[in-house]
Amino acid sequence: MAIELTLSIIKPDAVLKNHIGDILSRFERQGLRIVAAKLTRLSRWQVEKIYGIHEGRPFYQDLLQFMTSGPVMLVALEGENAVAKNREIIGNTDPRLASPGTIRADFGTAANRNAVHGSDSLESACYELGCLFEPGEIYS
Ligand code: CMP
Repeated sequence: MAIELTLSIIKPDAVLKNHIGDILSRFERQGLRIVAAKLTRLSRWQVEKIYGIHEGRPFYQDLLQFMTSGPVMLVALEGENAVAKNREIIGNTDPRLASPGTIRADFGTAANRNAVHGSDSLESACYELGCLFEPGEIYS
């Protein structure tokens, strides 16, 4: 299996509720390595770059507003099959449909307040990491 890099964003709802540590420890316990992390507040422009694919969908404006509403933690994760593993650890987009024990089931409350983002493919991961980190910030 290939060693991959992927992105997680701990969203403003989870940061506000003091869940950063709990969420990071789940990635580590389940075999992913944290190779970069920063607490920051995203600009509208940055959020549009990451979520532009959803432009025009009914939830898009709320997504932009929510993701710029407070600090987020940007996390680069490394490991075998990291893209798929991250998606497995975080669970379904809608926390009400997410499997028990996943991050979204435990820390999210609704599809638009689902605690974390995870890149959905290796291509998205490369693009999103490139938008949010300088190459020298990732200790791969
Ligand atoms: P995320 O994995 O960050 O990627 C896109 C986000 O859009 C998603 O998580 C949700 O927070 C949000 N989203 C996707 N589908 C819906 C939906 N049906 N209703 C509200 N928000 C959604």
